[in-house]
This record gives sequence, structure tokens and C-alpha cells, in this order.
Amino acid sequence: MTMQQAGQLVCVGTGMRMAGQLTPISKSYIESFDVVIAAVPNIFTRQWLQEIAKQYVCLNDHYQDTKIDGKTRRDTYRRMADTILAEVRAGKRVCAAFYGHPGIFACISHMAIADARKEGFEAHMEPGISALDCLVADLGIDPGTRGMQSMEATQFMIYQRVIDPTAMFIVWQIGIAGDLTMKRFDTEQAHLQIITDKLANTYSLDHEVILYEAATHPLEQVRAEKIRLRDVPQAELKQFTTLVIPAEQDLKVDQQVMDQLKALERDRAIGYTSP
Ligand SMILES: C[S@@+](CC[C@H](N)C(=O)[O-])C[C@H]1O[C@@H](n2cnc3c(N)ncnc32)[C@H](O)[C@@H]1O
Repeated sequence: MTMQQAGQLVCVGTGMRMAGQLTPISKSYIESFDVVIAAVPNIFTRQWLQEIAKQYVCLNDHYQDTKIDGKTRRDTYRRMADTILAEVRAGKRVCAAFYGHPGIFACISHMAIADARKEGFEAHMEPGISALDCLVADLGIDPGTRGMQSMEATQFMIYQRVIDPTAMFIVWQIGIAGDLTMKRFDTEQAHLQIITDKLANTYSLDHEVILYEAATHPLEQVRAEKIRLRDVPQAELKQFTTLVIPAEQDLKVDQQVMDQLKALERDRAIGYTSP
């Protein structure tokens, strides 16, 4: 029997919008655990966390590591996970807080939870409201209507991926598209031209796409700017812009499967069961 270690880890999400998008259970972990370790960009959310946490550690400085020769965002993420783990190993109940959902495009929480469990600590994740959740609400798009694909921009660029033009396609991190150095926090027109050309293998250049930015505080406006695919390279993109590509083609019936299903219905109607 393995003994449960004293330290504990829970990863929570603060939601996208300051105040109001945090679940009650996540709030209770933030208030009651020994230390809150956070990587949240919004300064007001940081201040609020600091006020209600018993002890507060900010991870944001770790992003500076990418300025050091030979270090990339991967090193930053590893150091953030290690900082979390050090507190767990010290026997503390640690609440690691990330903006949005702590497990969506947020490898630090996944790494920290896997490492903590490997070392015998209790560790779990509480879901949060992600950029995708806000996008569905703000743009009024139901992913269930036509299906949804979701992918990181650079991953789409550098790997051979099959995109279905009959379903919506959400492209994350378009604002750092094509960065192979893993050091940058922006992109350039040349990189955006490459992703646009690749998307043009699936969509027409006239296809209308949406540049989406969720509001992060009550006074901020949602950005839902519709542009043509051909204009993406010239678009003003932020690190937190998400590119939404609505379905361009109609759904096509898979006649073979449809026939099989109809045959089942027919068999059922006449009371036939296959041997
Ligand atoms: C590292 S991921 C973090 C996602 C976050 N964990 C979540 O749950 O939404 C960063 C990417 O999320 C998306 N994102 C972050 N903030 C956003 C916002 N305010 N509006 C729209 N998309 C956003 C962008 O695609 C951005 O490049």
C-alpha cells in the first residue's frame, strides 16, 4: 500500500473575465489552501488573489527566462511546474491558479499534477471557464451544430493535419503563429502568410473568418472582427487573439452508413434479429 504524502495540489482556473467567472469550489480552494501559486496576466485578478490567499506566489516573472540564451518557453513551463512542486513537497496544500481553464492550452498544470501524483501526492484539477467557453457565448456558435476542430496555430502549420471544412475550426495562439524558437510572444506577416496559404488548401481566400478576443473585465469590449481569410496576414493580432474559421462547406451524407442504419430500422420494424 502506498502512503499518501502530506502535500496536496489542486489546479484551478480563474475564468477569462475578472470577477464572476470563478467557480465557488475553486474560490474555496484559493481562500483555504496554504499557498496560491498563480500565472494570471490580469493585474486586477492578481491583486484580488493576493488579497484573499493566505500566501501568494506569482509565476509571471518566469516568462523572462526566454530572454536567456538557450532557454525557451518550454524551460519557463518546466520551472513554473517545479516551483509548484517544491511547495507541495514542503508538505503544503497548494492551489495553482491559471486564467481561463487550467487544463486548456496550459501544460504547466498537467505537468505539475502528473509529477505530484508520481511522487505520491493527492493532485487534481478543477475546470474553469476558458476562452472557448466565452467564444461560444459571445459569437453564438454551438459546436454541436456542425462539429468543431480546435488546434494550436503552429502545430497546424508544421504538421500534416487534415481539416474538415464542414465543421468549425478554432485556431489558438494565432498571435504567435509559426514561432519555432519558442521564445517569441508575437508573429509577423510572413508567418501569417504561410498559415493563410496552408488554410487556403481547405478554404477559399474569400471565406469569412473571425478574430476573437474575449473581454477580460466588465468595461472591455469583446472583439469579434470579421475579415476575409486573405486578409489574415495584415490583421492586427494580439497574443490573446483566437482565430475562428466557420464551416465553409455543407455537410455531405455518408450514404453507406445511412443505408446500414436504415436497414437496421427496417429489420426492427419486421421483428428480424440477425443470427
Ligand atoms: C496558452 S492559451 C491559454 C488558454 C486558456 N487556458 C483558456 O482556458 O482559454 C492562450 C491562447 O488562448 C486564447 N485566448 C487567451 N485569452 C483570450 C481572450 N481574451 N480572447 C480570446 N482568446 C483568448 C488565444 O488563442 C491565446 O493565444
